Amino acid sequence: MVTSSTIEIPTTTSVPQHVAIIMDGNGRWASKRLLPRTAGHARGVQSVRSAVETCGTLGVRYLTLFAFSSENWRRPAEEVSLLMRLFVQALEREVSRLQHQGVRLRVIGDLSAFEPKLQDLIAQAQAKTAHNDQLHLTIAANYGGRWDMLQAMQKMMFANPELGKHPERIDEHALSEHLSMSWAPEPDLFIRTGGEQRVSNFLIWQLAYTELFFTECYWPDFNAEELKKAFEWYRLRERRFGRTSAQVNTLSTR
Ligand code: IPE
Ligand code: IPE
Ligand code: MG
Repeated sequence: MVTSSTIEIPTTTSVPQHVAIIMDGNGRWASKRLLPRTAGHARGVQSVRSAVETCGTLGVRYLTLFAFSSENWRRPAEEVSLLMRLFVQALEREVSRLQHQGVRLRVIGDLSAFEPKLQDLIAQAQAKTAHNDQLHLTIAANYGGRWDMLQAMQKMMFANPELGKHPERIDEHALSEHLSMSWAPEPDLFIRTGGEQRVSNFLIWQLAYTELFFTECYWPDFNAEELKKAFEWYRLRERRFGRTSAQVNTLSTR
């Protein structure tokens, strides 16, 4: 069972074990160069490659990337279809590289909304990389934090119908074991590129005690150096999980 930060104080390390990123600012990166927004998305794929490589090298175990939110369907149809094409292309082209790097790929979100070809490619990529353990890469696609909590609630009730009569038996664990990322520890570090300081319905349950890092840097410009800046900022945080600073310091000098 994975530790819950609100039940038990998790062990932390100077390099974050789980990094979750909202890859934002592709459209603005392109507009600044008088290019169509879609050019920014295409360019963003490079930053994904670089983040995977850097995290692998620095010893991060889990990297979770927000690629398409449940609200992104509200965008113009051409932009949505370009994003889907890029996703298909990335799955076709990148899986052998991931395999080579020992990366296990998972996709979370309501995948039933995707066209069958994309669903097949996702299933194949997940199966192909299932034995890798170096870095766990999760792509959140048609994902929403509220969707995640609702689907977890539905699964929990389906698995334990008696909870309907005894709601007092519902505890954190009963629900969280059905969340999309129940197999991963909670994120240590959240990064949002592109300058906005909001969570936009990402991993809202899991971010309870995550350190939040915001940068103006647009996602296509977010290279290894920028990622290392975020890690350095993280290293200097004092993660208290509700305790006082004095308590944390006493423990670390013991
Ligand atoms: C993030 O970049 C990519 C997706 C949401 C798919 P944006 O497309 O949101 O870029 P901005 O925020 O408009 O610059
Ligand atoms: C969040 O970015 C979703 C992804 C990066 C996939 P958005 O650009 O969609 O977020 P808002 O709409 O500005 O909050
Ligand atoms: Mg955006």
